[in-house]
Amino acid sequence: MDVSVVILAAGQGSRMKSRLPKVLHSVAGVPMARHVYRTACQFSNDIHLVVGHGAELVKQAFGDTSARFWLQAEQLGTGHAVAQALPGVPESGAVLVLYGDVPLTRAETLQTLIEQVTEQTMGLLTVQLDDPAGYGRIVRDDHGQVVSIVEHKDATPEQQAVTEVNSGIMALPAWMLHAWLPRLHNDNAQGEYYLTDLIGMAVSEGITVQAVQPLDVEETLGVNNRQQLAVLERWYQHRAANALMAEGATLMDPARIDIRGNVKVGPDCLIDVNVVFEGEVKLGAGVRIGPNCVIRNARLGDDAVVEANTVIDGANLGAGATVGPFARLRPGTELAERAKVGNFVETKKALIGAGSKVNHLSYIGDAVIGEGANIGAGTITCNYDGVNKYVTEIGSGAFVGSNSTLVAPVTIEAGAFVGAGSVLTKTAPAEKLTVGRARQVTVPGWTRPAKQ
Ligand code: UD1
Ligand code: CA
Repeated sequence: MDVSVVILAAGQGSRMKSRLPKVLHSVAGVPMARHVYRTACQFSNDIHLVVGHGAELVKQAFGDTSARFWLQAEQLGTGHAVAQALPGVPESGAVLVLYGDVPLTRAETLQTLIEQVTEQTMGLLTVQLDDPAGYGRIVRDDHGQVVSIVEHKDATPEQQAVTEVNSGIMALPAWMLHAWLPRLHNDNAQGEYYLTDLIGMAVSEGITVQAVQPLDVEETLGVNNRQQLAVLERWYQHRAANALMAEGATLMDPARIDIRGNVKVGPDCLIDVNVVFEGEVKLGAGVRIGPNCVIRNARLGDDAVVEANTVIDGANLGAGATVGPFARLRPGTELAERAKVGNFVETKKALIGAGSKVNHLSYIGDAVIGEGANIGAGTITCNYDGVNKYVTEIGSGAFVGSNSTLVAPVTIEAGAFVGAGSVLTKTAPAEKLTVGRARQVTVPGWTRPAKQ
């Protein structure tokens, strides 16, 4: 059966106290509605978003997708919301209803739910809660068959005692929506068109409602405030940390790592506390990362070492390369194997060859450095004249004395030796000593001024 997905994302989320529509608040760096969309893509390429509050912002956040949007101008209930998308939903096939503020449902759980759907069966995701207050309760008959859902505000005291609740997520044959959504009423405690009333309609027409439970209750948790957002963030991070350990990484404290993207690890990586990963990160075997580092969109080769308080963004490290403590590698930095970047060094668009060292207090931008070069403390590449950027080339085996200023475009040839404190504006030739500073003089006949 083909599957269409309807994601409800029209609600205001006033309890978030935010300028941002609720469904655009992020878990693990990704807007909640994008988590839902990403999961939905595993089952369907016919995905509909019902938008209302902040509709334009939500549409923008999905601008790079093929999702279709349906405006629910007034929030008249979940049934009314799904009905907005109905004109776009085929009459045959199955429909999965998801919520933009329930971000972390496992694909496996939804797969099981979809598998329940036949022309005469629907699937409903339910969950046992110690405190079911506020949720729609699942009413079952003497044979344990689901017969209806009653909303908390419409429930009798006996029904309120039921701890099995409706997650809101359901999968059903499309024909049921087309046939029954137009027949919903809003004569209930909230004056809303309840999607959940479909369950009672289905049962009275002889349809079987199969309840499916998730592996974890967090899969069905929605976000109404920032506390609930934080709970899901922690649950996500807890699982992400476990996944890294399962792949063979040692985490000094699995509660103090944040993964906002995809991290792949080789065996025996060691990650110290308070490391934040963003985007796509790949660590080779035996990589060590010290405490308090941010690592974004980076590849680190086998046995690379990142010392404490280092920020790596859009950079790649060869095997055995060492960075930090307190280093900042910006986009376009490539360290070849065994290269070394030390404390208080900033690099940008810099290719640093095998075994070369930039150990202290430098800025290396728009630079190509060969192998085995030694860049002294405080060396600065002056790559920018206020208008354009220029490249500094430094050959293999070159030695650049401390506190040198390399005014690009400029070349330091292989094996060149640059005296400390030089300002270079011209080529430093290979294997020669070049000094670009005033010669030191001791002034003969000088006497110390005397007090008049
Ligand atoms: C709904 C279910 C309830 C279930 C609970 C789980 C109904 C009638 N009730 O209740 O059985 O236990 O979810 O959390 O479905 N939305 C729209 N447009 C609307 C109304 C809602 O887009 O007109 C969206 C909201 O933004 C939200 C979701 O649908 O993401 C759920 O709506 P909400 O009003 O929170 O439903 P509940 O009353 O919690
Ligand atoms: Ca409601």
